Amino acid sequence: MKLPKAGTIEIAPSILSADFARLADEIAGIESAGVNMVHLDVMDGHFVPNITIGPPVIAKLRKVSSLVFDTHLMISEPAKYAERFVEAGADHITFHIEVGDEPQRLIEKLHKLGCSAGICLNPETPVERIEAVAPLCDMVLVMTVRPGFGAQEFMPEVAKKIIRVREILGPDIRIEVDGGIDPQTAPTVVSYGADTIVAGNAIFAKSDRIAAINAIREAAR
Ligand code: DX5
Ligand code: ZN
Repeated sequence: MKLPKAGTIEIAPSILSADFARLADEIAGIESAGVNMVHLDVMDGHFVPNITIGPPVIAKLRKVSSLVFDTHLMISEPAKYAERFVEAGADHITFHIEVGDEPQRLIEKLHKLGCSAGICLNPETPVERIEAVAPLCDMVLVMTVRPGFGAQEFMPEVAKKIIRVREILGPDIRIEVDGGIDPQTAPTVVSYGADTIVAGNAIFAKSDRIAAINAIREAAR
């Protein structure tokens, strides 16, 4: 599965707020709402103060879903584990600019492995840090909360970084935004230039996930 070409608004539900005992059903539920992507949050308890899933879970999910696996690595050593995530079935891998690994080399490695590549910046990280490598990516991820947990409050001042990222990238590279996105905050980030919207709590905390996805979709158009 390939990341959809730029030019459409995509909703990428984050399973971080889903029921982890029923992940296959939860993913089937969002698939029936017509999304093309699912956002998989990988945390190592080191880069962020939380631990989630790794390649074995992703490999099992790969067998039951044909959605684009948008894999957000919140881990300290993404270069060390990238290949294992691709083998497990990740279609797109995002890693953080704040880690020690050399970003350009990792982007090239991901492309060689047949995986699209993304770079991510934390709320306190200035856009200049990604300026050189962002154009080599297929998607740039702007965090609008501190990574580690779902259901945090959207940071409106941080979201303005999207405007600068869009200037750097032009129209052909996706900009994804992650953290506190719901029908109220989605129009703002889209107006700044985001086209790929991660939402965890705003979807999985609702009993009717299809209605929740449609509400974000309507707000973002
Ligand atoms: C946070 C994760 C997000 C998270 C978003 O560290 O990267 O993807 O699931 O959750 P919400 O949409 O609830 O802010
Ligand atoms: Zn995420």
